[in-house]
Amino acid sequence: MMITSKSIAPITIIFLLYLVSCVSSQQETKFLNHGFVEANLLKFGSSKVYPSGLLELTNTSMRQIGQAFHGFPIPLANPNSTNLVSFSTSFVFAITPGPGSPGHGLAFVISPSMDFSGAFPSSYLGLFNTSNNGNSLNHILAVEFDTVQAVELNDIDDNHVGIDLNGVVSIESTSAAYFDDREAKNISLKLASGKPIRVWIEYNATEMMLNVTLAPLDRPKPNVALLSRKLNLSGIISQENYVGFSAATGTVTSSHLVLGWSFSLEGEALDFDITKLPSLPDPPAPLSPSPSPPNSTKKNTNNTKIIIICAASATVAIMILILLVFRFFRGNQTFFTGGARKFSHQTISSATGGFDNSKLLGERNSGSFYKGQLTPTEIIAVKKVTCSTRQQKTTLIAEIDVISKIKQKNLVNLHGYCSKGNEIYLVYEYAPNGSLDRFLFSNDRPVLTWSDRFCIIKGIASALQYLHSEGPKPLIHGNVKASNVLLDEELNSRLGDFGQGSRHSTTGHVAPEQLETGKATRDTDVYAFGVLMMEIVCGRKAIEPTKPPEEISLVNWVLQGFKKGDLLEICDTRIDRESLVAREVLLVLKTGLLCANRSPEARPMMKQVFRFLDGTESLPHDGPRHIKHA
Ligand SMILES: *[C@@H]1O[C@H](CO)[C@@H](O)[C@H](O)[C@H]1NC(C)=O
Ligand SMILES: *[C@@H]1O[C@H](CO)[C@@H](O)[C@H](O)[C@H]1NC(C)=O
Ligand SMILES: *[C@@H]1O[C@H](CO)[C@@H](O)[C@H](O)[C@H]1NC(C)=O
Ligand SMILES: *[C@@H]1O[C@H](CO)[C@@H](O)[C@H](O)[C@H]1NC(C)=O
Ligand SMILES: *[C@@H]1O[C@H](CO)[C@@H](O)[C@H](O)[C@H]1NC(C)=O
Ligand SMILES: *[C@@H]1O[C@H](CO)[C@@H](O)[C@H](O)[C@H]1NC(C)=O
Ligand SMILES: *[C@@H]1O[C@H](CO)[C@@H](O)[C@H](O)[C@H]1NC(C)=O
Ligand SMILES: *[C@@H]1O[C@H](CO)[C@@H](O)[C@H](O)[C@H]1NC(C)=O
Repeated sequence: MMITSKSIAPITIIFLLYLVSCVSSQQETKFLNHGFVEANLLKFGSSKVYPSGLLELTNTSMRQIGQAFHGFPIPLANPNSTNLVSFSTSFVFAITPGPGSPGHGLAFVISPSMDFSGAFPSSYLGLFNTSNNGNSLNHILAVEFDTVQAVELNDIDDNHVGIDLNGVVSIESTSAAYFDDREAKNISLKLASGKPIRVWIEYNATEMMLNVTLAPLDRPKPNVALLSRKLNLSGIISQENYVGFSAATGTVTSSHLVLGWSFSLEGEALDFDITKLPSLPDPPAPLSPSPSPPNSTKKNTNNTKIIIICAASATVAIMILILLVFRFFRGNQTFFTGGARKFSHQTISSATGGFDNSKLLGERNSGSFYKGQLTPTEIIAVKKVTCSTRQQKTTLIAEIDVISKIKQKNLVNLHGYCSKGNEIYLVYEYAPNGSLDRFLFSNDRPVLTWSDRFCIIKGIASALQYLHSEGPKPLIHGNVKASNVLLDEELNSRLGDFGQGSRHSTTGHVAPEQLETGKATRDTDVYAFGVLMMEIVCGRKAIEPTKPPEEISLVNWVLQGFKKGDLLEICDTRIDRESLVAREVLLVLKTGLLCANRSPEARPMMKQVFRFLDGTESLPHDGPRHIKHA
């Protein structure tokens, strides 16, 4: 039965499901598919089977959801009792990242239904949404192969395997690895490497043990499972179930592929004949549904990969710029008047000593920064951006005009620009103390005192408030983080990188709803600022995977501190305790928690945040019930 759901109206799908339920007496309890051309597979969403037999759950477009289920339900419980039966399955998958980071992952799923129409992409993997995530009525068991760290869903890292019951918050998870029997050690494995990985998932209903084991396709099955968990599945999964796969992309994408699948009730799943599996196309993932070119070009693929990745990231950069300009000019064409100061290339070049390496300040957000001396008294920072197309250049120049109009004491001011060939030089005022992240997260800078920190926080709040509501045109920053805050000689904060450069916020600063919608708003800026305030007070990053579990996520840790009433304890230990002003520390951390509320409606506006910090408005009545986090 070959069924493609892509072009079939919902009615047809219902009819097919009806058909399936009619023939479900023909229950199969064992199958082995090398490729899926002749497999009894139902496909939903973006999934498709290539003529080579390769099953593609999602391609590298954004926010795709793809599922594929075995056509007949599997009787997982003995009809005469509530006891579950054992099962064993093995499959081979490959995840080939799109441009940039991979996302979001794939899952093996056991579910009473194949209807996932309400589910979200990205971290919800096409299985759940914010309202049914974790609901025991879902009766879903999934084993996720997750390539993005969603902090609010307690993900441990961006390359893990997890056991999920009824939701995407894993009951158990661990970084992807396999056990090498000969060397008796764990070897870590990159899920999104584009290479085929074989998985074994086994459940022994007598022992109530669920084991998940994985290894590169060319390795034998390791003797030790990666995840081994005692689990009473009766009462959790229902009697008859569909088994299959689900994958999703978000703003970061991968092509999620399955090469073969074997399943068995009672008794081990049959082994693959590796030579019969479809081969993978050269990266990136199949763009056209042609049989994948087989083998033998392996040695040359590395160069091709680099070229493709470069080309792809350039495309993404251009798309981001275009989107930005749309955001600036939507409905307000008159704002673009073309008045930024233009510098000659010679001026810029002689100011920076011909872009001498000794003047290089660093590379950040898709450009190199140089220090320059414009006049004996005027020092500048020059950002050199190389444009790959004329379109990109035009777009960037249009943006510069907007940005150069924005002047505020806590924003990095853009003086003007210069363009030569395919290069654009942005001329900024110079911030002698560099970026804030160097002060917070490394030990090569002087320790900031409490009053420095409080002043820096208030400065950023003032800049964001200006951008959001007071500037010539309301703007969203979209990338609030410590490395985008510069410090002048008096350690006053200057928020930079608004309006251009990379829009990819860092993990830890991304608001939960932004993960779903991919859209930066005022609310997501407030969230990121909340997290940043905590980083400044605690002198650590939002996510530190090497910390003990309860401290990995800074937001959670601060929240725990708040509940226990020992917020002062989690302050950066490098700050001189004498200089700490308890009232201010508490004010900042509580405001941070309000801003980092999971729910965007509950976050204050920047204007209000500024007044809290300024002391002109008091915080809403303190208490954990006002600060809800998952
Ligand atoms: C992914 O698939 C969709 C639908 O078939 C198609 O429109 C889109 O162009 C594909 N994207 C890529 C990157 O191949
Ligand atoms: C279920 O019970 C019926 C009647 O007691 C019996 O004939 C059948 O073999 C049992 N089925 C299983 C799977 O044990
Ligand atoms: C979540 O999914 C369920 C089940 O598909 C659906 O009824 C519900 O409307 C969805 N909720 C949201 C917020 O999309
Ligand atoms: C390998 O990893 C497993 C699962 O994470 C763990 O239980 C085991 O102790 C590790 N073994 C070694 C030798 O590191
Ligand atoms: C699961 O793994 C444990 C420990 O590695 C092993 O003792 C057990 O036999 C395994 N069970 C199955 C069903 O593979
Ligand atoms: C489950 O475990 C029991 C007890 O260790 C063993 O006798 C049985 O063969 C196992 N079943 C499967 C399917 O591995
Ligand atoms: C497993 O769960 C079922 C349903 O919740 C319960 O009836 C059964 O007693 C449990 N078995 C064990 C060994 O705990
Ligand atoms: C693929 O590899 C096999 C065995 O190495 C070889 O015989 C065959 O010619 C190769 N196919 C192509 C298209 O290079």
